[in-house]
Amino acid sequence: MLHQKKILLGITGSIAAYKSALLARELQRRGAEVRVIMTPSATEFITPLTLATLTGHPVHSDFTENKDSGEWTNHVELGLWGDAFLIAPATAQTLSAMVSGTCDNFLMAVHLSSRCPVIAAPAMDLDMFQHEATQSNLKILKSRGVPIIEPESGALASGLEGKGRMAEPESIANWLENWFRSKAPLAEKKVVITAGPTHEPIDAVRFISNRSSGKMGYALATELNALGADVHLISGPVQLSAPAGVQVTRVETAIEMHTIALKSFETADIGIATAAVADYRAKSSSSVKLHRDEIPTAIQLQENPDILADWGKRKRGTQVLIGFALETDEGVESAKSKLARKNLDFIVLNSTQNEGAGFGTDTNQISIFEQNGKSHIFDLKSKKEVARDIVTILLTHLPQ
Ligand SMILES: Cc1cc2nc3c(=O)[nH]c(=O)nc-3n(C[C@H](O)[C@H](O)[C@H](O)COP(=O)(O)O)c2cc1C
Repeated sequence: MLHQKKILLGITGSIAAYKSALLARELQRRGAEVRVIMTPSATEFITPLTLATLTGHPVHSDFTENKDSGEWTNHVELGLWGDAFLIAPATAQTLSAMVSGTCDNFLMAVHLSSRCPVIAAPAMDLDMFQHEATQSNLKILKSRGVPIIEPESGALASGLEGKGRMAEPESIANWLENWFRSKAPLAEKKVVITAGPTHEPIDAVRFISNRSSGKMGYALATELNALGADVHLISGPVQLSAPAGVQVTRVETAIEMHTIALKSFETADIGIATAAVADYRAKSSSSVKLHRDEIPTAIQLQENPDILADWGKRKRGTQVLIGFALETDEGVESAKSKLARKNLDFIVLNSTQNEGAGFGTDTNQISIFEQNGKSHIFDLKSKKEVARDIVTILLTHLPQ
């Protein structure tokens, strides 16, 4: 959730300021871009040089860059830059200044200029934290919509013990991730995606399958997870690693995928079937490897369950169902017929006639046909961009 998020990290004059260096590192490790501003008092606890080196950006604690030349740092620009302004640690003094709107240092000027949400992680001695003034300031800030990352209890720098020490960098990063997730467009939406091929055994080493690489389903799972969805990816055998934050169940056969997909769809808001599930399996298979002379020259086939059709039959209320069709001809009519037959909200068609589309490639060229008659034709794009296009249309199908 922190990938490419712009975090403005404000550091104030608490002994916990040393933890902000680790926090900056942790946020960056999780993909965030971090810029640091400090109060003059914070620079007595940790040097701007440390944070500038860690983040790769200059650290500002003053309005003027160079007093002789009159160069100044634009607090308004910085205030507009962030997706979130995280003040960690936030001293009792800074919390009070936030309440009163004081603007006596650079950080406080950015605070008043910022349009993004401001979040504070207080750090102070237990009595300072318990003081009525601090508690009242925290209450006012919360009532203004400033989330407070509660301090933890334990040994304090003063030698006392109690609640007041700043939450650990990892806990703050987790908190921030969950917070971004809760604000994301697909927060609290559960999505089940099938991906890849299935392997239908003939004997212990041979199977019937197809050329599906699973890339489209994995790209969709990544994109949906980034938008805050709780994603369950049911994957046939592919050479891809699990996308971060996505629950992956690996299966071999259509029967296995069918059982898990039906169960997962019961509680899902959205079902997406990208898997190229084998239509048929061998009627009988051997649990040991067959020798050349034992292999039948004709294999009797038996129809596999149709996962997408079964999802369509079970679809209820506001559940959204998306199917994929891969055709070797133009395929529009067959895709539209599948859309209606399987009770889908929309279908994504890709034709192998179009160069760079279909199985195995990193690109795809799709058309989308919606149940309401709308259609969209897209250019050849990376599967990541295609996933974005699909999600954009998916968002229009969700209840507002
Ligand atoms: C060694 C030392 C540690 C301090 N630790 C804290 C602290 O953890 N929390 C706090 O609210 N103030 C703490 N203070 C007091 C603040 O530094 C002081 O109130 C300062 O004015 C805060 O300014 P600022 O909020 O603009 O950074 C500490 C002071 C010293 C000398």
